[in-house]
Amino acid sequence: MNTGDGTLGGHPFVVAHRGASAERPEHTRAAYELALKEGADGVECDVRLTRDGHLVCVHDRRVDRTSNGSGLVSEMTLAEMRELDFGGWHPSWRADGGHGDTGLLTLDDLVSLVLDWSRPVKLFIETKHPVRYGALVESKVLALLHRYGIASPASADRSRAVVMSFSAAAVWRIRRAAPLLPTVLLGSGARYLASSAATAIGATAVGPSVAALREYPQLVDRALAQGRSVYCWTVDEYDDIDFCRSVGVAWIATN
Ligand code: G3P
Ligand code: CA
Repeated sequence: MNTGDGTLGGHPFVVAHRGASAERPEHTRAAYELALKEGADGVECDVRLTRDGHLVCVHDRRVDRTSNGSGLVSEMTLAEMRELDFGGWHPSWRADGGHGDTGLLTLDDLVSLVLDWSRPVKLFIETKHPVRYGALVESKVLALLHRYGIASPASADRSRAVVMSFSAAAVWRIRRAAPLLPTVLLGSGARYLASSAATAIGATAVGPSVAALREYPQLVDRALAQGRSVYCWTVDEYDDIDFCRSVGVAWIATN
């Protein structure tokens, strides 16, 4: 994804943000299975560590918004989180269970699902910071990717996994420990992403919000000139998709 694959005149690749999260509850197997069936080129997830050191796919620090439980992910055990349902808040939920599997999804579950799918799909894993366990989340993510044999891809383009973060330190930890693994430095400010920040840590791509990119679309050419591609989030409107296509964004994350 860092090979100058700006897609002027072509189509950006489509990443299902938190799974098909408009249609199914975010970060559930139901959301990812739908995204895969609908033909997503990639899927995005946020990961956090439980108190007992397991990587789970949850965006918020707390489980309150997306589950029938309450509390901080970092203070709950995996077993406690497995008791929760992550689907009831979503309009797609049905009493007959026809909404699909909305139990807790671990990163392990998601990697297996994506790697077992019938076509190659990229998994964009975002580590959240600041968090109680600091750098442990990156070392656990890398250990898991090593276990699946996908931490040292032949090339960034062929990699099945990409690790992303708003934290430059987190991206740097990944680059240092797994130099072949593609990374995205996320940021809400496109000028920051066009600065030396991404170069300093060796990120293979930069990830502005679509609002930030609209303010500074030159970021795409600047990134391409530095050998980096652009991943843009969260691109849900048709005119934003057209905009991303016109400036040469490689990957768009959409709900
Ligand atoms: O894909 C990047 C994007 O997900 C960052 O924002 O808050 O949705 O994780 P957030
Ligand atoms: Ca995210």
